Amino acid sequence: MILLKSLTIVKLGGSVITHKDATPPKLNDTNLARIAKELKTHSGELIIVLGGGAHGHQAAHLHGYANPNSPKDQLLKGIPPIRHNMSNLSSSVESYLNREGIPAVVISPFTTVTLKNGMIHSYPTNIIKKSIESELVVVTHGDVCFDIERAASILSGDTIAVYLAKELNAGKVLIGTDVDGVLDDNPKINPSAKHIPLINQENKEIILSKTGPSTNTDVTGGMSKKLTELLELSKQDKEIIIFNLTVPGRLELLLRNEPTICTRIQS
Ligand code: IPE
Repeated sequence: MILLKSLTIVKLGGSVITHKDATPPKLNDTNLARIAKELKTHSGELIIVLGGGAHGHQAAHLHGYANPNSPKDQLLKGIPPIRHNMSNLSSSVESYLNREGIPAVVISPFTTVTLKNGMIHSYPTNIIKKSIESELVVVTHGDVCFDIERAASILSGDTIAVYLAKELNAGKVLIGTDVDGVLDDNPKINPSAKHIPLINQENKEIILSKTGPSTNTDVTGGMSKKLTELLELSKQDKEIIIFNLTVPGRLELLLRNEPTICTRIQS
């Protein structure tokens, strides 16, 4: 199997594709329609990874997934509502992409992935590889998965993007969020937080010490965990970029390798 320097992995952050604080969960239709058009401009192998946003984080929080001591039966009761929401979200995104003529198919982690203490334990990728070889665009997403130690845990879209990038040897990983990349403080609390265009060996420690979880309904760790995983991935020769997916046109520019505001991660 020849995989896959030409593979691009794009994560669509949950706060961009959903209205993160809306209850019941609500899609961000305006952003999704635009993002589908930007993705349409890409030619080449593509995996799209969805964050959970309103659909994932609220239900996960409600069923104890933010607390490492939650009882197993509480976590297990959370599986159907989280799965239901993530199926709805991914199927809606699939429809937006299909309407643009993108041959997208959803492949959900729950059906094949197992975790151990929240980390990937087993993640078969044969169907993902087969789909890409068949010129399909794979849509996958953060999900609840069985955990061999803790009954069930949440697998984040960021962890999936990093895992698949390593496993399938992707050339480019674009992580779409609702901020301009990495800033030296939380921009939602400190409006004069400064944008950092490049993270490498020289500045990574200081930046990691300043980044933190994003919000209290976020059950998967926010910017700090994202960055730690991406720094690990950057040891391989890949283009790794965090960017603001709420700004029209930036995804399209990055897909075309053109400059725009973002944070590049290099080792
Ligand atoms: C979370 O995935 C998935 C669930 C809560 C089921 P992410 O952690 O990647 O989601 P966002 O992008 O932060 O919303």
